[in-house]
Amino acid sequence: MPFSMNLLKRLQSAYSVVVLSGAGMSAASGIPTFRGRDGLWNQYRPEELATMEAFRRNPQLVWEWYCWRRDLIRGAKPNAGHLALAEMERYFPEFAVITQNVDNLHQTAGTRNITELHGNIMRNLCINTKCSISSEVLDREVARMGKTPARCPECGSLVRPGVVWFGESLPEAAIARAQTFSAEAEVFFSAGTSSTVAPASSLPYMAKGNGAYVVEINPEETPLSSVADERVAAGAHEVFPKLLQVIQKLRQRVR
Ligand code: APR
Repeated sequence: MPFSMNLLKRLQSAYSVVVLSGAGMSAASGIPTFRGRDGLWNQYRPEELATMEAFRRNPQLVWEWYCWRRDLIRGAKPNAGHLALAEMERYFPEFAVITQNVDNLHQTAGTRNITELHGNIMRNLCINTKCSISSEVLDREVARMGKTPARCPECGSLVRPGVVWFGESLPEAAIARAQTFSAEAEVFFSAGTSSTVAPASSLPYMAKGNGAYVVEINPEETPLSSVADERVAAGAHEVFPKLLQVIQKLRQRVR
């Protein structure tokens, strides 16, 4: 797939590049997306599975669903898109991956500058935010309990997955980092996201407002498509490896 001269010129001189990734980034790793043809929200109702109310109402159902997703993710490997981004980071003084994904695949691929907006599914948390239990103790209790929702050994509250549920606010530090990187970006890639869930969906607009060249990588159109400077209607697992090859001709490694 050809990339425009505009994009190549920007990439040649850019100091700061940002990649915002969504579920489509991990589709080629066998992890289902949420929306679109075979998305999870076509089979399940998010308000029954991905809210604190749902968890309090039926901890067994919600916990089993997250155990199923954890098993799926444990079996998944970073795809060529994740791996290309981990290498691409070496060619720019500032290269930030901001992800809505909770699957840890960017970390496993080797990317270092990562901001997780929606948490990490492998993390366990006590729902009592004032509890001081250590994650090691929680993880041991969760492993012991398996598919049965665990209780915090310190305070007896339920143990939940460390992801952001609908109706919850994002970790403040994560959104602040994401906004800072987006405001400074000279090139901003939005890859594998339906661009429908705030505040992540506002980041490309913030970048564009500050003069960034915005590129959308998604086989389908999204609300961002008409605003982006460029659209590549293909999979992130195909596009990023090709983009890396182009960048390796344009630039030297800086780390
Ligand atoms: N490469 C790039 N994009 C792809 C690919 C691929 N190989 N396969 C699918 N897509 C696109 C789909 O066309 C869709 O637009 O990825 C997008 C995935 O959109 P969603 O399923 O809505 O995922 P996302 O945008 O990450 O959802 C945001 O919503 O449910 C919450 O917390 C959840 O983080 C998630 C948030």
